[in-house]
Amino acid sequence: MTVTRELTKEPTVTNAADNATLARHRWYPIKEGFSPRLVTDSYLELGTDSKKRVLAIEPFSGSGTAPVECTRLGIACLAFEVNPFLAFIGRTKLRQADPKTLRAQRETVLKGLRRKNVSRLESISTFCEGNGRKKWLFNRSVLRTFAGGWNGIKNCPPTLRAFYRLALLRAAMDNCNAYPDGKCLRYKRLKSFDCFDSGSVIAQFEHYCDLIEEDLDSTRFDSSLSSVECMDSRELADRVPKQRFDLCVTSPPYLNSFDYSDVYRPEMFLAGLVTDNKQLMRIRLRTVRSHVQANWKAPIKASFGTIYAKILKDILNRKDELWSARIPQMIQAYFEDMEELLAALTERANPSALLKIVVATSAYGGVVVPVDLILAEIAEQVGWELHDVQVVRRLRSSAQLWKHEDRDKKVPELRESVVILKFPNGSSGAVPHKRFG
Ligand SMILES: C[S@@+](CC[C@H](N)C(=O)[O-])C[C@H]1O[C@@H](n2cnc3c(N)ncnc32)[C@H](O)[C@@H]1O
Repeated sequence: MTVTRELTKEPTVTNAADNATLARHRWYPIKEGFSPRLVTDSYLELGTDSKKRVLAIEPFSGSGTAPVECTRLGIACLAFEVNPFLAFIGRTKLRQADPKTLRAQRETVLKGLRRKNVSRLESISTFCEGNGRKKWLFNRSVLRTFAGGWNGIKNCPPTLRAFYRLALLRAAMDNCNAYPDGKCLRYKRLKSFDCFDSGSVIAQFEHYCDLIEEDLDSTRFDSSLSSVECMDSRELADRVPKQRFDLCVTSPPYLNSFDYSDVYRPEMFLAGLVTDNKQLMRIRLRTVRSHVQANWKAPIKASFGTIYAKILKDILNRKDELWSARIPQMIQAYFEDMEELLAALTERANPSALLKIVVATSAYGGVVVPVDLILAEIAEQVGWELHDVQVVRRLRSSAQLWKHEDRDKKVPELRESVVILKFPNGSSGAVPHKRFG
């Protein structure tokens, strides 16, 4: 029986607060990221003396915390991220360029920003004012300044463009009338949207260019060490393993029905990574099935250990209280995806490899789903040794997710944990492991 261990005294490593101040991480921190300290501490736990031998893998790269921190430590990391905007962020944070050249070329982008261009987003619903709308994401002057700068970047050397694009996207989002809040975008409480204009975009762009130049100088990277590939990490299972890894510190999407592709919709449209909602839907369909918004393929496997079996039974008994009839299937699909990924990691692990999974529990229809413990059971069954389940943070469940007949009942506390696993010594990655289903 797996038990959780409370870490009350240690500062939490699962929140992204550090990312707002640390070199390179601060270029574009995201709320759902974890602290780079988690990666550093885990690397030190490996107790290895030869950096060159260590390979890290990160199947859910997000803003690139793991590959950036690994590269800073001098170890290689192969990272994967399905969202093209987030993959772009991670990749850009790994790049190296001469900060002086970046500074010198900045004027080319500034010229474009001052010149402005009509933006194709002006005609896309909610992106811009007009048509009697009361709320919109970007003021017209913000969109036109952005479009002018984006075009200006094309006149810069190819090796520098990603840095300017990142700085400009962040500047645009600072001047957006909405901000990401959990699973949706929420309009900012402003007296009027007039505070955002061309001048504020240019000022923020310059500010982010300053940060990038400073960090390129202070934290020089060997860009060839790590990579971020834009890929559905569930496809790892179909890839022949070339290299075996020693360290994997990762945080999959939580089973909280959030779809991250939706939260980054403005950035994806601004960057031209998607041009309509159909393309966005294609990305959603490639994400781990932790949400009900997309019409993904139904899961087939149904056996993910004893805790899973009990919880699913409890949830099915209360199916009339669920806010979506697809929730039981979503839970099943989520663990099917995670089982597939954990099995793929088994194939790629070196003996003694360390695997840390940051995850939170969730609640549906009055039943708490102990995602950490279920993942621990699945990991054990595909060949990993469970070392610990450390609770790092207590979270409040959203009232919406907790809807059930007894509305007065207290909303349960959820926990965020780090599941710590080791690959057995003496095993080579390709051990035969038990498959479920
Ligand atoms: C909790 S976030 C990871 C945050 C990351 N640790 C950081 O510090 O920025 C989970 C990430 O998994 C990504 N993701 C979801 N499904 C995926 C899939 N099938 N393959 C690869 N990445 C996926 C999401 O886009 C999201 O960025």
